[in-house]
Amino acid sequence: MKTKLSVNLNKVALIRNGRGGNMPDLIKFAIDCESYGADGITVHPRPDQRHVRYDDLAQLKEVVKTELNIEGYPSDNFMKEVLAVKPHQCTLVPDPPGVLTSDSGWDIDGEKVLLVDIIDSLKTAGIRTSLFIDPDPRQVIAAKEVGADRIELYTGGYANNYFIDKDKAVQSHIDCSKKAEEMGIAVNAGHDLNLDNLRFYSDSLSSLSEVSIGHALICDALYFGIANVISMYKALLR
Ligand code: PXP
Repeated sequence: MKTKLSVNLNKVALIRNGRGGNMPDLIKFAIDCESYGADGITVHPRPDQRHVRYDDLAQLKEVVKTELNIEGYPSDNFMKEVLAVKPHQCTLVPDPPGVLTSDSGWDIDGEKVLLVDIIDSLKTAGIRTSLFIDPDPRQVIAAKEVGADRIELYTGGYANNYFIDKDKAVQSHIDCSKKAEEMGIAVNAGHDLNLDNLRFYSDSLSSLSEVSIGHALICDALYFGIANVISMYKALLR
């Protein structure tokens, strides 16, 4: 099955929020991304609401016809919003409140009690759950144990080392995808994926359900336009 491209719209919301009005229109942008070929829309409402805000979520759910993926730390507030909106997928990340971006995955064993409980309530609401993890096969096993449907592999380290030694940079991701196949858990990936490093990543993993890409894709859209960029990224996915 072809890897899906979920477009992360946080940077679009950041531009909108910079002026306090509704330009660019986030909801229209989501609809347009889908019409240009995006297989999903990802948003990550952070506690300070500097990107996508909680009050965007219901409207996004209404218009997104592919898949809406909401990411975030499962605070009481976040969970209340997610359970009300019921996205197709919720990706849980271990971000502390003021973090600039998500730059490490869960220590699942250390957070077992919290995660089992949260995943259970998401499952009961019919929401697919993914856990953001570092590329460590032990975390894949732990993700299965706490009942996650998927893992999202943090690709920041891979991206940083891609131009130094790409085979070495991707090896732990290959190991995780093999372990995930063995355990019957699907694999997503994201962070710092771009037009340079995406093809090699996607070719290297035996199974990759979805990538979510925001920062580089929106930066590329400044040069090439969003419609072209979505096609360019999709062409790199097998
Ligand atoms: N996955 C997670 C959990 C994230 O927090 C982010 C950034 O919001 C991404 C993927 C996408 O990363 P990038 O913006 O670098 O493509």
